[in-house]
Amino acid sequence: MENEARVTISCSADIVTARQRGRELATELGFDGSDLTVIATAISEVARNVVTHAKQGEILIKPVHNGNKRGILVVARDEGPGIKSVEKAMQYGYSTGKGLGVGLPGAKWLMDEFQIESKIGHGTKVAMKKWLK
Ligand SMILES: Nc1ncnc2c1ncn2[C@@H]1O[C@H](COP(=O)(O)OP(=O)(O)O)[C@@H](O)[C@H]1O
Ligand SMILES: [Mg+2]
Repeated sequence: MENEARVTISCSADIVTARQRGRELATELGFDGSDLTVIATAISEVARNVVTHAKQGEILIKPVHNGNKRGILVVARDEGPGIKSVEKAMQYGYSTGKGLGVGLPGAKWLMDEFQIESKIGHGTKVAMKKWLK
């Protein structure tokens, strides 16, 4: 059975752990070269958002299949304040804090599939996939 990773996120060190676990699992699944950096970077951004905007949450990383496509699924979820306007949050340069506002659009651009669900007062879930070529 293939591996999966679940990392609790509440501080910067956890972001590093999630990034490393993602890189390890992606390597096991057959990703290499710049794809490893791409996946690790996308994980960092969503994990950083958990720490910065929601204080705590978790990252789940696991293999995913669709027909004969194989890839990696990364889910970041938290029970933080949620996002008032997901449409705005997805715009390059939009930040409600002191950030650059490139984390979410950057992660979407880096990965092959990207979904975000958020509910004010309930939390946020980001699910993203990268397929092996
Ligand atoms: N997990 C989250 N919980 C609450 N708000 C979030 C979360 N992730 C992102 N956001 C909101 O979306 C905005 C855009 O996120 P992002 O593109 O990563 O930019 P930045 O983190 O630099 O502000 C954030 O400023 C914040 O308002
Ligand atoms: Mg961010």
